[in-house]
Amino acid sequence: NSDQFLQAIRPYGLIPVIKLEHLEDARCIGKGLCDGGLPIAEITFRSEYAEAGIALLCKEFPELLVGAGTVLTPSQADAARSAGARFIVSPGFNPSLVDHVLRTGTVIIPGVSNPSQIEWALEKGLSVLKFFPAEVSGGVRFLKAVAPVYPQIHFLPSGGISLDNVREYLALPMVSACGGSWLTKAGTAEGIAAEVRKSLNLVRGVADV
Ligand code: 3PG
Repeated sequence: NSDQFLQAIRPYGLIPVIKLEHLEDARCIGKGLCDGGLPIAEITFRSEYAEAGIALLCKEFPELLVGAGTVLTPSQADAARSAGARFIVSPGFNPSLVDHVLRTGTVIIPGVSNPSQIEWALEKGLSVLKFFPAEVSGGVRFLKAVAPVYPQIHFLPSGGISLDNVREYLALPMVSACGGSWLTKAGTAEGIAAEVRKSLNLVRGVADV
């Protein structure tokens, strides 16, 4: 469930958000993430390789916590789950997608960027939400403003987060981890592992762990 998911990601404070340009990239990304010490991957349905990439990562890197991102439809959620995804992330709050994924028992993390959407999520019994797109939706100031109103919600901000601002987000008690695509941009496993180590060093001690 989402509590276990939160416990699993909290020690790292970072969620690599990945768009696979080629299926083979999954291999060097998986290796880079594992070698760098960040065994989490959100593979987005922004590319045609999402489903196969999730399956490849689950098979070749059993230690990796693999989820699906940018999931827009129930059929994408089903494909992700069959491929082995253990969490499903959507950019917005789509009630029928949320209901569908809840029925399957998989963790669903819908995106929100305003109080109405947060309340739709509360109504569904959800307490772990993506805050997206974080920077252009008010960033840290948005989170500080809504947290007193919804103290039960944990936010996973993403969208516009980088090494320049990630510490400001992780310093907030309602933020357990931030998503970002910068972690896996290097073209090699070594490059990704180096970026991951640098990022983990930067956030270590800042996150509310
Ligand atoms: C996401 O889907 O979480 C974001 O698009 C990642 O945003 P970024 O590319 O700005 O890190």
